[in-house]
Formats: sequence, C-alpha cells, structure tokens
Amino acid sequence: MKNLLVTGGAGFIGSNFINHLLSKRDDLKIINIDSLTYAGNLENLKQSENHPNYSFVKADITDRESINNIFEQYNIDNVINFAAESHVDRSILGSEVFFNTNVMGTNVLLEAAKRFGVEKFLQVSTDEVYGSLGPEGKFSETTPVDPNSPYSSSKASADMMALSFQRTYGLPVVITRCSNNYGPFQFPEKLIPLMILNSLNDKKLPVYGDGLNIRDWIYVIDHNKAVEHVWEKGRIGEVYNIGANQEMTNIDIIKLILNYLDKSEDLIEFVKDRPGHDRRYAIDSTKIETELGWKPEYKFEEAIEKTIDWYLENKTWWERILSGEYQEYYKLQYKNV
Ligand code: NAD
Ligand code: TYD
Repeated sequence: MKNLLVTGGAGFIGSNFINHLLSKRDDLKIINIDSLTYAGNLENLKQSENHPNYSFVKADITDRESINNIFEQYNIDNVINFAAESHVDRSILGSEVFFNTNVMGTNVLLEAAKRFGVEKFLQVSTDEVYGSLGPEGKFSETTPVDPNSPYSSSKASADMMALSFQRTYGLPVVITRCSNNYGPFQFPEKLIPLMILNSLNDKKLPVYGDGLNIRDWIYVIDHNKAVEHVWEKGRIGEVYNIGANQEMTNIDIIKLILNYLDKSEDLIEFVKDRPGHDRRYAIDSTKIETELGWKPEYKFEEAIEKTIDWYLENKTWWERILSGEYQEYYKLQYKNV
C-alpha cells in the first residue's frame, strides 16, 4: 500500500485526479491536503470523501511545521503537487501569493520529501513556463523556459527548484507540463466555464484583445491519466509534456459554446487585452506517448459538449460558487477538521 500525498486535491484538476484514482485502484491511500482557498471546494470530492483509502487534511503547503507533521503522521512515500495559485489574471492583479504558494510552498514540500524520503515527487507544471509561440512550431521538453506572467514565472521557478533537488540531493523528482485543461469542476474564472455560465445567465462574454489567441486544449481526465503514467513510469529527473493536439482560438471556442447553448453571438464583447498575453501555446507530447505509452482519448468536439452538459446538469454546484455559499460547505461537513 502506497501513501500518496496529493496537494491541492480540492481544486479542479486535483479533485478529478483523486476521484479518478480512487474509483479504479485499491493499492494506495490518498492523503489530500488543501488549504481551501477560493478555488478549493470539497464538494468536488463527494464521490470520494467516504472512501476507506481517502483522508483530507486542511493544511497550507507553505506551513513547514504542518507539512512535516503530515509526512510523519501518514508515513508519506509519494507526492503529487497540484496545489497552486493557478489563474493568470489574478497573478497580474497581485503576484505575492503566487510566489508564496507556488515557489515557497513547493520548497516546503521538497524539503519535507528530502527529510522523510519518498519514492517519487511529481511536480505538476504547465506549458505556460515555455512562454509564447508564433504561428508555427510546438513546445517540446527541450524548449527553453521563458515565462511571461507572474503565474507562469512562479511555476517555472518551482520547476527549476524541483530539478535542482533531484540533481543536488538525488530526490526522485519528475515534472509534467500540461496544456490548458477543461472539464467538470473547473472554477468559473477560467475561459471555458466562465463563458458557459455567462452564456447561460445571458451575461456579456468578455473576449480579451482580438480573440485570436490560441490554446491547446486537453480534457482533464486525459491529463489525469497522463499524470498517473508519469508518476508510475516516468524517469527520474525528466520533464514530460502533456497535450492532446487540439489547438483552438478563444473566439472559436466561445462561438461553439454559444451555438451549443442556442444563444446569440451578440453576447460577445471584445475588451482590453490582458497585459503580456501569450499568443499561442501548442504541445509536442511525443515523449510521453513513445516512452510511457500514454495517448489522449478524448476529442475536443465531444468532450467540450460533455463539459457544457456537466455545467447544465450541475447548476447547484456553480450557483453555490457564484453566491459564495460553497464556503459554508466546509464548515458544515468538517466541523472539527
Ligand atoms: P485550482 O486553482 O482549481 O486548484 C488549486 C488548488 O490548490 C485549490 O484547491 C486550492 O485551495 C489549493 N491551494 C492553493 N494554495 C494552496 C496552499 N498554499 N496550500 C494548500 N493548498 C493550496 O487549479 P487547477 O486548475 O486544478 O490546477 C492544478 C495544478 O495544475 C496547478 O499546479 C496548475 O499550475 C497546474 N496546471 C493547470 C492547468 C489548467 O489548465 N488548469 C494546466 C496545466 C497545469
Ligand atoms: P485562461 O482560462 O485564463 O487560461 P490561460 O490564460 O492560463 O491560458 O484563458 C484562456 C484564454 O482565454 C487566454 O488567451 C485568455 C482568454 N480569456 C478571455 O479572452 N476572456 C476571459 O474572460 C478569460 C478568463 C480568458
């Protein structure tokens, strides 16, 4: 039985990861630690919360003492670090918490992993560390890191630190760099859920700049399966890019959402561009495909409809977020945690 520490497991990708892993495996215990920022929502984990191999601890990854206690108490032997401040726009408004959590929090986890010893430490990173592409080419693992936003520079810093722990102390670190995710439980500040909910509520859809920025989209379950592959089979000290070859302009996605929901394109409103806005991301995931045998399973056209349907069917989930009511859930459900 492995004792896997998953950080940030109440967020979008982490909660999908835990729900996915616990529904198919009984050879591991998952200890989910999350400080429950605005983006952390224990409602995402309803299907897992009573699983015998699941524990939740409310803890901040920047809190050295708590993290050391958790490593000791739960006999942690593997770490997957999803916890982060994850939204570029918020990082432009205020960068400090991004560097505290994404850089110092990662340092606390790496130091604890070094002190107590682990089989593997997987740092979940992003393609945004590579910066921005022109019309041609893709990011490969050898593309130089060249981040543009406070968010991506904090993630790049954490990557460099994690690799240095591998090279200096022999800590068994691997890194994944994935493209933009979409799917159930994504907080409605990111492009796809924001545009779905605004369309449903007949609110304007704010498109930054000319709407022609390109992102390379991947369904969250494909990302999670890739993380599982890298955790189990990835070579120590290596970086693995994860992507599904599904480049789309923002405006095309927005029109697709409006069309699916039978709403008018008059809702589209072009607004001032994001400062330092990366033009294009595209991922070359040949390495993980050839070396580890992972391949994406979901096509954008199907999975985006699946995602829109999920938001249509889970109105209570997002209404509670929009009203701030979801924050009460934790107090109700975990009175003594
Ligand atoms: P999210 O914002 O939905 O979730 C982040 C989670 O981390 C939340 O539950 C939050 O409460 C928790 N957290 C934040 N600060 C913490 C702290 N100091 N201590 C403990 N917990 C804390 O983010 P997400 O979209 O699920 O992203 C997860 C990871 O994947 C991040 O590391 C992100 O950089 C990376 N990533 C995201 C995408 C994407 O498209 N969303 C793409 C590639 C990589
Ligand atoms: P986002 O979901 O914030 O992801 P990231 O910036 O990490 O790629 O944004 C995706 C794209 O959508 C990005 O080009 C910015 C754009 N965007 C808008 O045009 N309007 C919006 O309101 C948001 C949130 C994003």
